[in-house]
Amino acid sequence: MGITMLKENIIKELEGFKTENRFRTIKTNDKSLYNFSSNDYLGLANDKSLSQKFYENYTFDNYKLSSSSSRLIDGSYQTVMRLEKKVEEIYGKPCLVFNSGFDANSSVIETFFDKNSLIITDRLNHASIYDGCINSNAKVLRYNHLDVDALEKLLKKYSKTHDDILVVTESIYSMDGDCADLKKICALKDEYNFTLMVDEAHSYGVYNYGIAYNEKLIDKIDFLIIPLGKAGASVGAYVICDEIYKNYLINKSRKFIYSTALPPVNNLWNLFILENLTLFHDKIEKLKDLVNFSLTTLKKANIETSSTSHIISIIIGDNLKTINLSEALKEKGYLIYPIKEPTVPKDTARLRISLTANMKKEDLDAFFKILKAEMKKLGVM
Ligand SMILES: Cc1ncc(COP(=O)(O)O)c(C=O)c1O
Repeated sequence: MGITMLKENIIKELEGFKTENRFRTIKTNDKSLYNFSSNDYLGLANDKSLSQKFYENYTFDNYKLSSSSSRLIDGSYQTVMRLEKKVEEIYGKPCLVFNSGFDANSSVIETFFDKNSLIITDRLNHASIYDGCINSNAKVLRYNHLDVDALEKLLKKYSKTHDDILVVTESIYSMDGDCADLKKICALKDEYNFTLMVDEAHSYGVYNYGIAYNEKLIDKIDFLIIPLGKAGASVGAYVICDEIYKNYLINKSRKFIYSTALPPVNNLWNLFILENLTLFHDKIEKLKDLVNFSLTTLKKANIETSSTSHIISIIIGDNLKTINLSEALKEKGYLIYPIKEPTVPKDTARLRISLTANMKKEDLDAFFKILKAEMKKLGVM
């Protein structure tokens, strides 16, 4: 196919996105809006006194703004080595820092699994997990979201014929705000032989070192992935796994080997956050309180949600109605992105409300009243 033909197809596809109200654009948001679309759940990325404390504590040398090389050449600075050691001290297993959660998820899957493997994944797992599955060429089976019985049925059936099975789940789900039963999934390991990978992007920080850590499940999880761009207030990801897997990633992971390492300044900040995480206890408790308050208020207002966490998803269904609701709320001073396919399944467009620790109950109360009024006006409740 020639380039002109290709361009025609591209134009047609983009026009199709517009017709279906799912054409994406990028813009800088109005910072004066009350922000319900941030993943800075503990408010650490916006905490000026915290960054001030960070900058005061470190010398210019540590601030290097580029590592200028991959980890295998000249990019393994002291900061990243100290960071990995600290993660290992806390979690009791070695750690390898990746440049992003996306790289970590996709790389672990595509490095260890191949066409002879079977990957069993929660239907709503993140795109990076799906990319890893595709790149691995493994057979992929999806189970209904959070349905551990369905997962067990698949394990029962396929463990007879497959000896290389990976099960992948997240803990808190980004677009639904619900939580996988990690204990039950880990318990399946007593009966079936499989490798387990868990992504804690939306629980690290909010639940201290994460749900797997709190529930003492680290030993059962072969690959614990902790992306740092949410409550971690930063960038990058920890892959926590056995030494032998870490060595294999260092030798085989293309995204690890052939990419410039994160700048030392970012890893120093990651270390700073990790070392201070227990000091943010009041923020964690405050967020918990806001979650309880919000879920109770929504219930009283008859606004439906299946969320049980700091991420509250209100499913509207239709793309245009969801966009209109988001726009109406913007007019009232609130930033809440409409989430549409392919980020979520078709016909489940939604408002995704992120709560953060620096919000106030009275603001949330006022917002939920406005939300209800606007939902009624638009005929979506
Ligand atoms: C569950 C989950 N895993 C992984 C990622 C990717 O992490 P990163 O932004 O660090 O690439 C995200 C979103 O960003 C996510 O929501």
